[in-house]
Amino acid sequence: MPDVPYTILSCAITLDGYLDDTGDTPLHLSGPADLDRVDGVRSESDAILVGAATVRNDDPRLLVRAPARVAARRRRGTTDSPVKVTVSEHVKLDRDRAFFTTGDVEKLVYCPTARVDEGLQAFGDLATVVDGGDPVTMRHVAEDLYARGVRRLMVEGGASVHTQFLTERLADELQLVVAPFFLGDPRARRWVDGGDYRWCTAHHARLVETRALDDVVLVRYALSERCEAA
Ligand SMILES: NC(=O)c1ccc[n+]([C@@H]2O[C@H](COP(=O)([O-])OP(=O)(O)OC[C@H]3O[C@@H](n4cnc5c(N)ncnc54)[C@H](OP(=O)(O)O)[C@@H]3O)[C@@H](O)[C@H]2O)c1
Repeated sequence: MPDVPYTILSCAITLDGYLDDTGDTPLHLSGPADLDRVDGVRSESDAILVGAATVRNDDPRLLVRAPARVAARRRRGTTDSPVKVTVSEHVKLDRDRAFFTTGDVEKLVYCPTARVDEGLQAFGDLATVVDGGDPVTMRHVAEDLYARGVRRLMVEGGASVHTQFLTERLADELQLVVAPFFLGDPRARRWVDGGDYRWCTAHHARLVETRALDDVVLVRYALSERCEAA
């Protein structure tokens, strides 16, 4: 089997398992302590991947914030922040999204074979448009990222990409942060969809860490033999 990066899924959810509400602005689920922790995980990654809906809805910069962490990356001879990665079937991404406009780092957009030309026309000057196959699979993306030198990949959502990394057996580690409130709105997005998960009633993931961060809790699960213990 071809090599793929060590892959960490990172997500914050409500007590009832939602990762966002139905509003136009991102739902704030964690506080400064957890955001700083996430910054640390980003700084240790070679690439960060989010789905195109997250690029459109949340407009994340996906950059390392803490100057000390940026300095440490420079000392290691890497770019200030990891490579940014997204996947899009319809290649409808506004050019003014922070994904494209922030950070002096490589940006990769994986799209279906038939949409590569469209993607090149839309934002080929801002990002590298990559043929992700037909259809695009996360295994293809992961193998291609590995071939580009990515050894540690952080996946920051949304639900669609988390589900695919899990059901394609590509996730090594889950970092789930639980916020102390319910959303209670079934129209909102849960953090994963239905699917064939390796970890089920008869086959439990291994808990490697729990950590309180202000009023949220981080739970880390090992999802593969590669996951190093806390
Ligand atoms: N709480 C958290 O930690 C957190 C983190 C991240 C995001 N979020 C939330 O998650 C929500 C978005 O989640 P989501 O599941 O709806 O969307 P998503 O996973 O962010 O993105 C889904 C989109 O990615 C593209 N895509 C996914 N798989 C693909 C494939 N195999 N081939 C080609 N394109 C593919 C498609 O883009 P096109 O539509 O362009 O074709 C698809 O519509 C947002 O509301 C955001 O706020 C929360």
